[in-house]
Amino acid sequence: MVDLCGVQLRGPVLNGSGTYDAIAARRAFGDELLERFPFDCFVSKTITLAPRQGNPPPRLWETPAGLINSIGLPNKGLAGFLAEDLPKLAELPVPLCVSVMGFDHDELNELVATVGACDEVALMELNFSCPNVETGLIMGADPAETAAAVEALRPLTQKPLIVKLTPNATEPAAVARAAEAAGADGVSLINTLKGMALDPKTHEPWLGGTTGGVSGPAVRAIALEQVHSVSKAVQLPVIGMGGIASGRDAADFLTAGATCVAVGTESFRDPAAGARIGAELRALSRKEREFSSGAVR
Ligand SMILES: Cc1cc2nc3c(=O)[nH]c(=O)nc-3n(C[C@H](O)[C@H](O)[C@H](O)COP(=O)(O)O)c2cc1C
Repeated sequence: MVDLCGVQLRGPVLNGSGTYDAIAARRAFGDELLERFPFDCFVSKTITLAPRQGNPPPRLWETPAGLINSIGLPNKGLAGFLAEDLPKLAELPVPLCVSVMGFDHDELNELVATVGACDEVALMELNFSCPNVETGLIMGADPAETAAAVEALRPLTQKPLIVKLTPNATEPAAVARAAEAAGADGVSLINTLKGMALDPKTHEPWLGGTTGGVSGPAVRAIALEQVHSVSKAVQLPVIGMGGIASGRDAADFLTAGATCVAVGTESFRDPAAGARIGAELRALSRKEREFSSGAVR
């Protein structure tokens, strides 16, 4: 068992928000999915207060080692999520973490107070990779913005609050320290790195949103360094992600200081990747235990 902010998980492998649609997967694979659910805790796609259409297509570009996405957070909004998605996500065999994003403090407060009051929800993740419309600053890129938001949210719920850090910050460890001082229960990182691709024919930006977020193996070394420096800076549990595609990758993030890991882009290649990575991780730690006990020479 793994303790994540007081919530007991059967293992350390989560999904990265927005990279695994558990409701669509259950439609495709049936109830067998519940018997072999690939993650030890399910993180929802980020929801916002109002419904969003997302960015115009194209929304994806494949790089030699991952993706650039400009999905733009399409979602049903809070009311749609509560009415349609939450009852289905509550049937998953693992604890549920709901990811929320607000474009100002009032939106965030309403999201956290409402979602936090739902019995089906074990944890909340605060996606701070968006501009605060009141200041124009990316909330999660600035320690003071992060602290102000977390301080306002802390009294609104007793549920654990995990701050998702953006790698597009001067010093993610400083943002993590600010989140910890303001009352966050955990941090997760990394979200995607800002990138772009040009249409090979027109030389115009390929993505409908002009720029997008880079993910996958291309970002793994950056993510590992950030997880390492953030883990040293705070006492909070850290969820590490960014390009994890094997048990070895996951083990590296745990060695760097993470309590849990999350699998994102790899699930697009293989929807069972979370289960495979969990099994590889267990096999690796068995081998290491045998080696250190002298059973293997
Ligand atoms: C298609 C796509 C959609 C994503 N949507 C979200 C989202 O809704 N909320 C969020 O916090 N992160 C989102 N992410 C970021 C991932 O959760 C993760 O932080 C990032 O992709 C790094 O992990 P990876 O390299 O394993 O994919 C998205 C990533 C991708 C590729």
